[in-house]
Amino acid sequence: MSTQKIAIIGLGYVGLPLARLFATKYPVIGFDINQKRIEELQSGKDFTLEVSDEDLNTVLQKTPNFDKGLYCTSKLEDISDCNYYIVTVPTPVDSTNRPILTPLYKSSETVGKVLKKGDLVIYESTVYPGVTEDECVPVLERVSGLKFNKDFFVGYSPERINPGDKEHTVEKILKVTSGSTPAIGKKVDDLYASVITAGTHLAPTIKVAEAAKVIENSQRDINIAFVNELAKIFNLMEIDTTAVLEAAGTKWNFLPFKPGLVGGHCIGVDPYYLAQKAQEFGYHPEIILAGRRMNDGMGKYVASEVIKLMVQKDIKIKGANILILGITFKENCPDVRNTKAVDVANNLKSYSTNLTIYDPWASKEEVKRELNLDMVSTLPEQKFDVIVLTVAHKEFLTLNLRDSLKPEGILYDVKSILKGEVDGRL
Ligand SMILES: NC(=O)c1ccc[n+]([C@@H]2O[C@H](COP(=O)([O-])OP(=O)(O)OC[C@H]3O[C@@H](n4cnc5c(N)ncnc54)[C@H](O)[C@@H]3O)[C@@H](O)[C@H]2O)c1
Repeated sequence: MSTQKIAIIGLGYVGLPLARLFATKYPVIGFDINQKRIEELQSGKDFTLEVSDEDLNTVLQKTPNFDKGLYCTSKLEDISDCNYYIVTVPTPVDSTNRPILTPLYKSSETVGKVLKKGDLVIYESTVYPGVTEDECVPVLERVSGLKFNKDFFVGYSPERINPGDKEHTVEKILKVTSGSTPAIGKKVDDLYASVITAGTHLAPTIKVAEAAKVIENSQRDINIAFVNELAKIFNLMEIDTTAVLEAAGTKWNFLPFKPGLVGGHCIGVDPYYLAQKAQEFGYHPEIILAGRRMNDGMGKYVASEVIKLMVQKDIKIKGANILILGITFKENCPDVRNTKAVDVANNLKSYSTNLTIYDPWASKEEVKRELNLDMVSTLPEQKFDVIVLTVAHKEFLTLNLRDSLKPEGILYDVKSILKGEVDGRL
C-alpha cells in the first residue's frame, strides 16, 4: 500500500484532471460538495470535457480502498485517512470585483475536521499573496486544534491548465511548488515531480508562488488590453488592426497578442485579487485596473461597432435578426462562467434586435440558468441581417457564413479568424 494517500478537495476544471493524474500512481480520493458532480463522475463522465471517459474510467474505483486509482465522494469520512490534502476550489469575485474567499474558508474547515499530525495541505486555487498562510492556515488551526509548522504543514502550487487545451495538459505544464518550510517545499516538489513530466520549479516561499501565479494572468490581461486599445484606435482611423499586428510582429521582440473578449474564471478575475491586496497596502494599481476596465468594456464596444455598421448599411435595428456564434468564454470549451460574449449579446438585445444564439459547446440549460439567454441547438437555415462570430470554436471555422446572411448583411468577426471578406472585426 502506498504511504501517500491524497485527497483532492474540489473536482472542477482544475481538481479532476489533477486527481486523475495522481490516481495513475497513488490512491486518490476526490471530494466535492456538489453531489450531482460526484454522481456524474462516479458514472464515468466528466461534463467539463477536461478528462476523457477512457482516462477517467481507467482510474475510477467503486470503493475507497485501493493501491492506486480515484474514488469520488462527498462524504467527509472517506477523506479522513488521507495524509495529503490538495485544495482546488473556486476563487471568484463579487459584483464589485472583490475576492470571495468563502470556498477556501469552507474547504479549509472541511480539511481541518480530518487533519492529523504530520499531514500536508496544499492549495492550488489562484489567490493573492498571503491567502494560504494568513487566511487558510488559521482556519486549519482553529478547526483541527493542531499547530501550524509543528503538527501539520502547508504548501502552495498554482494550477496553470488552460481549459479546452488538449495539448498543454496538466502533466505537460511545468509546475511551480512551494512549502511552509524548506523541507516541506522539497516534499511538495517531490510529490508533483513524481507525476508532472514537464518538471517543477520550487519557489523559495509560498507568497512567491502565490504572487507568481496571479501575475502570470495579470500580465496576459494587460497585454490583451493594450491590443484592444490599439484596435479601438485603428478602427477610428480605418486601419486594419490585424494587418498592423502582422507587420509589427515581424520584429523579434514584438509580443503576438490579439484583440478580443477577456472572460472566464482566470484572466478576467485574477488581476482583481492582486489589485485588492495592493489597495490594502495603500497602493492603488493603475495599470492593472486600467487593463481590467479596457477588457471589461469590450463586449459593449463590439455591440456598438455592430450597430454603427448597421446604421451605415441602412439595416433597420429594431427587430433585426442577429446570429451570435459562440457564447462560451473561449473556444472549444463548454465553460460559460464570466463569459464576455454575453455582453455582446445583451448589448445588442438592448437595441430591441432579435437574437439567435448558437454554440455547439455550451449547454442550453446552463446558458438559460446562468446567463438567462435562450440558445438554439442547431444552426438555423434562415438568412440573418447580422452574424457576429464571438468565439472561435473549431466548428465555426469551416462554415460558409455568407450563405446564412442576407445579401446586404453584416459579418462581424470578433476573433479575426475568418478567411475572406468581413464587414467588421476587432
Ligand atoms: N479553470 C481554469 O482554467 C483554471 C486554471 C488555473 C487555475 N484555476 C484556479 O483553480 C481554482 C479552481 O477553479 P476551477 O475552474 O476548477 O473551478 P470549478 O468551479 O470548475 O471547480 C471547483 C469545484 O470545487 C467544488 N467546491 C466548491 N466549494 C467546495 C468546498 N467547500 N468543498 C469541496 N468542494 C468545493 C465545486 O463544487 C466545484 O466542483 C480557482 O482558484 C481558479 O482560479 C482555474
